[in-house]
Amino acid sequence: EAIDLQGKAILPGFLDMHVHLRQPGFEAKETIETGTAAAARGGFTTVACMPNTRPVIDSPELIGYIYETTAKEGSCTVLPYGAITKGELGEELTDIAALKAAGAIGITDDGVGVQSSSMMREAMRIAASLDLPVVIHSEDEDLAKDGCMNEGVVSKRLGLPGIPGLAESVMIARDILLAEETGAHLHVCHISDAWSVDLVRYAKSRGLKVTAEVTPHHLLLTEEIIDRTDAQDANMKVNPPIRTEKDRQACLRGLLDGTIDMVATDHAPHTEEEKKRPFQTAPFGFVGLEIAFPLLYTELVETGQIALHELVKKFTINPANVFKIDRGVIAVGNVADLTIVDLEAERTVTVEEFKTKGRNTPFLGKKIKGWSVLTINQGRITYRGN
Ligand code: DOR
Ligand code: ZN
Ligand code: ZN
Ligand code: ZN
Repeated sequence: EAIDLQGKAILPGFLDMHVHLRQPGFEAKETIETGTAAAARGGFTTVACMPNTRPVIDSPELIGYIYETTAKEGSCTVLPYGAITKGELGEELTDIAALKAAGAIGITDDGVGVQSSSMMREAMRIAASLDLPVVIHSEDEDLAKDGCMNEGVVSKRLGLPGIPGLAESVMIARDILLAEETGAHLHVCHISDAWSVDLVRYAKSRGLKVTAEVTPHHLLLTEEIIDRTDAQDANMKVNPPIRTEKDRQACLRGLLDGTIDMVATDHAPHTEEEKKRPFQTAPFGFVGLEIAFPLLYTELVETGQIALHELVKKFTINPANVFKIDRGVIAVGNVADLTIVDLEAERTVTVEEFKTKGRNTPFLGKKIKGWSVLTINQGRITYRGN
């Protein structure tokens, strides 16, 4: 059967270095099967998954479980991160060397926040000796407290507890210093605040091994999405929170000037029941895998703010280089990881078409272009659209 490539772009398969696949333990939210099917629909051929599952991915056996389950049920390559600390308490370091030997591509505190400076310093020393990236969520829990949105004019008007941008930037500042001291490769997740972007730019100007990612939602939205009149919709609730126009502009500038290396979704599915809870008690998170590229193509490329090939780099070569992933991306002899994208046809974001179990996105109803029509992972067709 012939494939019509008129108006289509043949691109390297996308990599998303930050997703929550929820298996094991939270299969009502997502599974490796549904999460990787969503990835394939989004044009992704590789995703890196976070360890805040139940149990937490804190042992070589659990790293093995991710690889084995993906081999059976996956529609893309899945590369797991190991947790920096054991379990959910953040009190004892994992066996980082054993995690690496089992195939962990980095260690992280995402979803299992490590607050202790001495523990982070020790983890970075070990990771540096192993040449393993340290991937940080960056949230000072004392400053973030029980906040449910960005601390600013909107939170004050609504009387809702806020999370200051400072809760992110102070942790990034600390971890940049620890990375310089230890020689660790520090990767900053989901950067959302103007100060944070400046800190990463400064670290790079010093020649440090510091890299960063930004999500589509922090590039496109502001805190104005939070409803000011009646009950707030928890589908607008995410951590780090959506911040101000100034912060959004800073993130975009950081992406354009190379301070921010890549786009990552922080795909974080939750059940509809959980997201129907009152705004203050509902869980944080947006799904993002299926719409990340079309959103940014439509909002940034079509509006002339970034060139298509520059955006594509942020989804492909850059994450592959930062994490030294030799898979698919323009390397002679590698088996194909490809996505063929329709740059012309416009489609509406609807939950009926979602492969993810999650419905939690602020972009429902949006008309966007740049959807994948064919995704190929390791020479195998993993998604076929129309
Ligand atoms: O919005 C978020 N969702 N932020 C996080 O840090 C965790 C994630 C999740 O696991 O749901
Ligand atoms: Zn996080
Ligand atoms: Zn700010
Ligand atoms: Zn995350």
